Amino acid sequence: MSTNQLEMKKKLVFLSGAGMSQESGLKTFREMGGLWESYDINEVATPEAWQRNPELVLRFYNERRKQLMQAKPNAGHLAIADLEKNFDVEVITQNVDNLHERAGSSKVLHLHGELMKARSTVDSFLVYELDHWALNPGDLCEKGSQLRPHIVWFGEAVPEIPNAIGIVEKADILVVIGTSLAVYPAAGLVNYVKKGTPVFVIDPNRPSVLQENVVYMKEKAGKGMEILQKELEKMM
Ligand code: APR
Repeated sequence: MSTNQLEMKKKLVFLSGAGMSQESGLKTFREMGGLWESYDINEVATPEAWQRNPELVLRFYNERRKQLMQAKPNAGHLAIADLEKNFDVEVITQNVDNLHERAGSSKVLHLHGELMKARSTVDSFLVYELDHWALNPGDLCEKGSQLRPHIVWFGEAVPEIPNAIGIVEKADILVVIGTSLAVYPAAGLVNYVKKGTPVFVIDPNRPSVLQENVVYMKEKAGKGMEILQKELEKMM
């Protein structure tokens, strides 16, 4: 593929959330039976929680990592990867799993960090790939400080937001999939599309903040992507 051919492809941007990976067996956060029903955000997903009880925080993310290592990309992830044949696809995900990458998507921006990475607590540029599920007290970075999950916790800045805004501004088509759009600044990204850009939303529950002029598809990610892929290929 030459650069020219790439330039001719329309830019198709996905904004995904936990519902994207639900059919892979990973729990969402805010639904009945979701993770935030069993765990208190303030005890596992804030900088204060990390200060107070790092063992509990590590345990929570170890459990998530263990489940992720047993999970596989679902039909929705695979369809998004497949669309790269015909579109310049960029995925912006709130998910910390690596299922988009494992499905074959080549451009994935993680807004909220990545489960399969750990980071130094004294130097945020020291980020390490993990190939095992357990991150333990006493696991140190090369400067001798404890490693923490490479996750953006509640109350922390979201460093990838400016890059994500840049991507959404260039979108020819935006697809929002599997997110309640309850968490900012991620939820605000939909407001950065150029005027007139088609916006599709796939979710069994319509996110309440959405404007009227979106195409809402009341489907799970797998089925929704099967239907939408056919529609999108008419818009190439
Ligand atoms: N396919 C598509 N969507 C689904 C499916 C499915 N199979 N199952 C559930 N959903 C939808 C739900 O209807 C809901 O709208 O996925 C959405 C999940 O919403 P949340 O649980 O709020 O997850 P998300 O929007 O990703 O949360 C954002 O909050 O807790 C933080 O950092 C965490 O990144 C996360 C952020």
